[in-house]
Formats: sequence, C-alpha cells, structure tokens
Amino acid sequence: MDQRVVVAGGRPLQGRLRVQGAKNAVLPLLAACLLAREPCLLLDAPRLSDVATMSGILQHLGLDIHAVEVDGVPALQVDARALSGYEVPGALMRRLRSSIFLLGPLLARVGRARLTLPGGCDIGPRPVDFHLRALQALGATVSVSEGVIDAEAVRLRAAEIRLEQPSVGATENVMMAATAAEGTTLIRNAAREPEVADLQAFLNAMGARVSGAGGGVIAVRGPSVLAGAVHTVIPDRVEAGTWLIATAIAGGCLELANVVAPHLDAVRAKIEEAGFPVRPSAGGLMLEARRRPRPVRVHTQPYPGFPTDLQNPFMALLLRATGTSTVTETIFDNRFRVVQGFLRMGAQVSTYGRVAVINGVPGLHGAEVEDAPDLRGAAALVLAGLAAEGVTVVRQAACLDRGYQDFAERLQALGADVRVETGEEQPARA
Ligand code: UD1
Repeated sequence: MDQRVVVAGGRPLQGRLRVQGAKNAVLPLLAACLLAREPCLLLDAPRLSDVATMSGILQHLGLDIHAVEVDGVPALQVDARALSGYEVPGALMRRLRSSIFLLGPLLARVGRARLTLPGGCDIGPRPVDFHLRALQALGATVSVSEGVIDAEAVRLRAAEIRLEQPSVGATENVMMAATAAEGTTLIRNAAREPEVADLQAFLNAMGARVSGAGGGVIAVRGPSVLAGAVHTVIPDRVEAGTWLIATAIAGGCLELANVVAPHLDAVRAKIEEAGFPVRPSAGGLMLEARRRPRPVRVHTQPYPGFPTDLQNPFMALLLRATGTSTVTETIFDNRFRVVQGFLRMGAQVSTYGRVAVINGVPGLHGAEVEDAPDLRGAAALVLAGLAAEGVTVVRQAACLDRGYQDFAERLQALGADVRVETGEEQPARA
C-alpha cells in the first residue's frame, strides 16, 4: 500500500500549534520502563508509529501497556512487572533502530538479551559498536553472529567509559544499564541532547542516581532497584523546528505552544539568519514570514549545534533563497537523498560528499516525488511543496507517522491544502 501526501502550494500558514512530546525522548523512556518494578505513566507520549512499534516489542516481552488520555494529552501506562522474556524477533527489531535501547535495560533487569541488529531510517550506516563496547566495559559478554546480538551479564559492574563520538543512543543505553551496576559509572564524551537529560530525570524519578546529563560527563551511581514513576515527556524540538521552517517557507504567522525555547537556540539562529525573526510569545514562540529567505551556511552538529534531523527541512527553506547556500552534514553519511525530489521540483542543488550547494531559485513547481527518502526527508518534501506552484505528491510517505502525529492534519489546521491518500501503488508520472 502506498500512502501519498498531496499538497497544493501557495497558501500561507496561520494559527497556533501545541507541540507534541518528543519522539526521541519517549522511545528511550519506554525502554527505561522495563527497569521498573512498579507501573509507570508517561504523559504527553505522542501517538507515533515508532511508539507503537516500541510498545509492541515491549508487549512481546510481557509488559502491559495501555494508551490513555490525561488532561487532553496522550499518555502511556507501562507495567513491567510481568516481564517474561529477553528475546525479540528480528521482524520487530528491524522496524525500529531504537529497539537497540532494550539491550541495556534487559541486561540490567534480567541479565540476558538476544536481539537482532536493528533497522530504522535509511540515512547511512548506523552501527551499534559504541553500544556493544560500552556494555562489555560494564561486564557483559556480547557476541554478534548472523545479525543477532547475544548479551549476558551475571553481574554488571561500574566502569569509566569514553565514547568515541557523543552518540545519543549509546549514552542512553549505558545510562540505563549502569543503574544496575555496582559502583559509579562515568560516561565521558556523553551526548548532551535534551532527550538525554529527560531520561536522567525519569531514571531519577524512579529512584536511580544519575547526574551530569546535558554536559559531557554523566555519572550513574548504582546499583538501584527502580520503582514506578510519573513523567512528562519533553516537547519535541524537531517537530517545533519543522513547523517554524514550514511557516518560513509558506509565509504567514505561527505561534507554537509547549516548547522549551533554549532547546531550539541553534535552529532559531539559522532561521533568523535566513531573515525570519522568531519571537517569544505568551505560550511559546512565534514566527511571522513575508519574504524570500536569505542564503545561509549551515553545519549539522551534535547538540547544542544545528540538529541533523532538521537538515532536510531547512534545506527545503533554502531552495528559494536569494543567493547560494551551503549545507554540510557531519553526522550521517546518507542524508541528501531528498535532493532528488527537490530537483524534480525545479530546485538547483549539487552535492559534493557531505556538502550540498543550493543556488536559490525564485520559485519551485509541484512534482510527483517517487519515494519519500526517510522520515525527515518526507517532511522536507511536503514543506517544499507548500511554496511550490501547483500540486506536489510525495509517495511512500507513511514514514511521516514515525515521527509526526497527524502531520497532514496539523498543516491543514493551519490553512495548508494538504491531504493524505492511501491506496494501491500507482506508477509515477513521467
Ligand atoms: C539519535 C536520534 C536521531 C538523531 C541522532 C543524531 C533517537 C531515537 N534518535 O539517533 O533522530 O538523528 O541521534 O542526533 O534519539 N555511531 C556509531 N556507532 C554506534 C552509535 C553511533 O558509529 O554504536 C555513529 C552514527 O553512525 C552517527 C553518530 O554516531 O554517525 C551519531 O549517532 P547517534 O547519536 O548514536 O544517533 P542515534 O542515537 O542512532
């Protein structure tokens, strides 16, 4: 089945949006629930297909999970008391890269994990070697054979771990495993992303002793037996950034509620450099757009730098800039697949390895775009379509549901002419 997003360009966006809870926070938080000896409640857990996949994996392991609504926001009740397995079938694991988050908690809770190497977005090779080496340092025996990770630990012991790169996932996996390790684990060169700090807050609410998240060194004092906790997921800075960029592209005026403004500093700086001031408003942030963007140079970086997850959407903004922009991707190898779709819409973009050079054009035209390359690439194509003349069709766009709750409906509510069509796959127009 093909899910297509059809967008007719030329309508400005107008209105107010409440940002969802963060996808990249809720996935490790769900994995962390596995550590608790009592039920947990995650408030503002967005209804995303990645969240449903992760919930399905946890249910396979025996957990009891219910989607509920609390004060009008989606929430998840997670009860890990009936945890009964340590093995996840490949078909489930391959649907979600974040399934690797289960490795640390399973080792901590049952001392054993058998997981197929994970899948996820196709944005270049995404190895898990940092995760495996760090868990070995904590005393786990880890082997990988024919794509299956087998890990065992009779007892985890604290260690000093220096990550080669500040990997978000590896930092989070080690934090969770280390709650069960005896002594103080130090994670050096840790990822500083706000989602790591959110995991620390949740683990501490469950009774763990974790400190330093948000900085480059995280300390976990173990072992702790973790209890239940209620936690509100932080707002999704990538979703917030997507809507700000969408408004800069389409023109109009947007007010965002449920944002942590400092989490968006790097993104705001670049949007402002492109000519669109982002102002604080009563409930969050506001952007008003009435001009063509100015050209900008942007490099993706680990937090607090410009996030790789907003690189494709930001490139969509630069397509119509009044000059030449460059975008350098430093995190992933294969994050320019979206360019094919941009070219079909009349953009002028050339890529040289990890650098894309964008010669701004005055206008884009609608096109049928064969395959949405990945979650953020699909979003970027729809965003480009908002300012294109005519109709843009983004095919194979179901991946949007992995990271955005009601993507098309939210844009519609702001006045865009966007709809989702589901049906048999049709050949692309010539
Ligand atoms: C997380 C985010 C993802 C975001 C990325 C970078 C979640 C659920 N996903 O992904 O949206 O794009 O951070 O901000 O939070 N690496 C290795 N070996 C490893 C682990 C990572 O070489 O064992 C490399 C990766 O290939 C990549 C870099 O390290 O080049 C950063 O990856 P990492 O921070 O681990 O990304 P994820 O946690 O997978």
